[in-house]
Amino acid sequence: MFDDKLHTMTLSEDGSFTAYSKEYDEHYHSTKDGALKESYVKHVIPAFHTLKDRDEVSILDICYGLGFNTLCTLLYYKKYSSQTKLKIYSPELDASLIESLENFTYPKEFEIFREIILTLSRQNIYEDENLYIEIFVGDAREYVKRFSNKFDIVYQDAFSPSSNPILWTYEYFQDIKNAMKVEGVLTTYSIALKVRLALYENGFNLYLNEGEEYRTATIASRQKLQGLKEVDMQHKISCNLGVNSLKDNEI
Ligand SMILES: C[S@@+](CC[C@H](N)C(=O)[O-])C[C@H]1O[C@@H](n2cnc3c(N)ncnc32)[C@H](O)[C@@H]1O
Repeated sequence: MFDDKLHTMTLSEDGSFTAYSKEYDEHYHSTKDGALKESYVKHVIPAFHTLKDRDEVSILDICYGLGFNTLCTLLYYKKYSSQTKLKIYSPELDASLIESLENFTYPKEFEIFREIILTLSRQNIYEDENLYIEIFVGDAREYVKRFSNKFDIVYQDAFSPSSNPILWTYEYFQDIKNAMKVEGVLTTYSIALKVRLALYENGFNLYLNEGEEYRTATIASRQKLQGLKEVDMQHKISCNLGVNSLKDNEI
């Protein structure tokens, strides 16, 4: 059984299961957009579309949770770029959640990754010729400080800023920026002004991730990106005087 004192499995709109966290009083994914769809359209597709061809891709997946962003990345990678070396690094505070994932009901698209799911759930590391995946069981804030100029992609997929603010502050994004390559790209479901300000104040340009069948999300990059609608942050700031980015000392 996956369900326990802290989590219950919930069916989302696209037919895939997500989970509800009693501790954070929040679902792991948007139940309206659907767990599988949210992961694919808000993170994996926009991230890979903005990357130029490269031999090796390093991803920081904040946070592992049920592993949808990592597993969707494997789906994409298998279909479009299986020659690329892929390295995924993912912190997750909840050790018992990771252990229970072998009993989670994943979408049928993930059946081909059963061995990877089992290995990650039991050993927190999976490795083969082209693939390295590491789940760090611990605090993401500490973990990201280990890296400098490493990541091509960051999936920023923590619980919401209101329920888990420590993973959305100005200082947090400072560490994320340091961990990323200059040409790296960050994806997040959040469109909150405070979050965008925290990224903007760290030198990120902000873009809309829009589609007809899902709620708008955000793409951030320090280099200018082509073909995306940029968020006019100067305009937002002038219309919202008094709104500030979250700071560590306010939490
Ligand atoms: C919204 S869920 C992540 C969903 C995940 N990306 C997926 O696709 O299934 C947020 C996760 O962040 C974890 N978490 C909360 N605070 C954390 C922290 N400080 N460090 C690492 N993980 C944390 C929670 O345990 C939860 O699993």
